[in-house]
Amino acid sequence: MAAAASSPSPPAVITCRAAVAWGPGQALVMEDVEVAPPGPLEIRVKVVSTSICRSDVTQWQSTAQPDLFPRIFGHEASGVVESVGEGVTEFQVGDHALIVFIGECMSCKHCVSGKSNMCQTLGLERKGVMHSDQTTRFSIGGKPVYHYCAVSSFSEYAVVHSGCAVKVSPTMPMDRICLLSCGASAGLGAAWNVADVSKGSSVVIFGLGTVGLSVAQGAKLRGASKIIGVDTNPAKQEKGKAFGVTDFINPAELNEPVQQVVKRLTDGGADYSFECVGDTGVVLTALQSCSDGWGLTVTLGVPKAKPEVSAHYGLLLSGRTLKGSLFGGWRPKTDIPLLVEKYANKEIQVDGLVTHDMPFSDINKALELMLQNRCLRCVIHMPK
Ligand SMILES: NC(=O)c1ccc[n+]([C@@H]2O[C@H](COP(=O)([O-])OP(=O)(O)OC[C@H]3O[C@@H](n4cnc5c(N)ncnc54)[C@H](O)[C@@H]3O)[C@@H](O)[C@H]2O)c1
Ligand SMILES: [Zn+2]
Ligand SMILES: [Zn+2]
Repeated sequence: MAAAASSPSPPAVITCRAAVAWGPGQALVMEDVEVAPPGPLEIRVKVVSTSICRSDVTQWQSTAQPDLFPRIFGHEASGVVESVGEGVTEFQVGDHALIVFIGECMSCKHCVSGKSNMCQTLGLERKGVMHSDQTTRFSIGGKPVYHYCAVSSFSEYAVVHSGCAVKVSPTMPMDRICLLSCGASAGLGAAWNVADVSKGSSVVIFGLGTVGLSVAQGAKLRGASKIIGVDTNPAKQEKGKAFGVTDFINPAELNEPVQQVVKRLTDGGADYSFECVGDTGVVLTALQSCSDGWGLTVTLGVPKAKPEVSAHYGLLLSGRTLKGSLFGGWRPKTDIPLLVEKYANKEIQVDGLVTHDMPFSDINKALELMLQNRCLRCVIHMPK
C-alpha cells in the first residue's frame, strides 16, 4: 500500500524579538515574545519594514487604556507571509504584503456598499486583541501582550487577519511602500476620495507631517491652484514646497488669528481645509478658514487630548461641511493595489517622506525623533 502523502506540519509558536511598551510613554524594551500560530483566516507575517506614525506615538503616550499594557505598537508595515491559518486561500507562504490597520471582509454592509471603508467585521480594533476571538497572539511567559490596531509591527513576527493584508509584488521596495499602509495613503485619500479636490481650487492644510504633505501632493495632482500649508515648525516650509505647498504660514509668527490670514489669501476662505495635526482646537480653526457657502473641512488627526470638537453653529449654518476620514476612505484590498501601482509608475512620491532609516534596535531613537518633531517618517528595518 502506498504511504499517504504527508501534509505539511502545522505552524508552531515562534519566539522572536519585539519592542514592548510596558506602560504609557515608557521606553520600549526588546523582549523575547511568543507569537502564536495564525488562527482561522489569519496569516503570520515576518515583518520587513515598519515606519512610525504619529498615531503610534499618541497611543503609546496615552494613559486612557492602562490595562492594555504590555503592548506592541506599530501599524505602518510590510512583510512576508511566514504561515497561513485555516481557510486562507488568498495568501501563500512567501507572499509579500502590506499590513493595514483596517480590513475589508468583502461581505458586510459597508464592504458591499462601495462607499465606505468602515468594515463592520475588521474595522479599527481598539481593545488590543484580534478581531476574530478577542484574544492576543503575543505572550511573554504565557501572559498576554496586547496588540495595537490588530497589527503590532514593532515585532519580528506579527499575526494579522488576512482581510487586513494586501498582496504586493515582490519587486516593490518594502521599506518605502510601508508608508502606503497608513500615513501617505490617508493624506492622498483625504484629498481625492473624501474632499474630491477640484482643479483651480484653494486648499489649506494644518500640519505638514507625512499626512499633511500627502494631502498637499493629492491636491497638487488634482490641479489645486493655491495650497496653503500651516505649521508651527518653520522647517516644514521647504519640505512643503516639494509636495506642492504654494504658501506657508507659521501661526507662531503671527499677531493675528491664522484663519484671518487664510481668508485674505483666498478671498474669503479656502474651498477645502484639512486638519492633519491631531488637535480639536485646530479643527475649529480649519472650519473657520474655509469658505462659507461650500467650504469643506476634512479632519484626519487623532487628538492627544480633548476629543470633543466644538464650533459655533453659525459656521455650519452658513454652508460649511465638516467630515472626517480614516485611511483616506481607501478600502485596503480594493484600492491599495492601485496606489502601489501609482508608486511603481512614479505618479505619486513616497520616498521623500522618509527622513530616517534605522535598524530595529534603534526604535527608541526613532520614537525620540518623533517626540522632538525632527522627522517625517523613520523607517525601521527589521533583522533579515
Ligand atoms: N485619519 C487617519 O487615517 C490617520 C492616519 C495617519 C495619521 N493620522 C493622524 O494624523 C495626524 C498627523 O499625522 P502625521 O504622522 O503626519 O504627524 P506628524 O507629527 O508627523 O505631523 C504633524 C505636524 O503638525 C505640526 N503641528 C503641531 N501643532 C500644530 C499647530 N498647532 N498648528 C499647525 N501645525 C502644527 C507639527 O509641526 C507637524 O509638522 C496625527 O494626529 C495622526 O495621529 C490619522
Ligand atoms: Zn497611522
Ligand atoms: Zn466588511
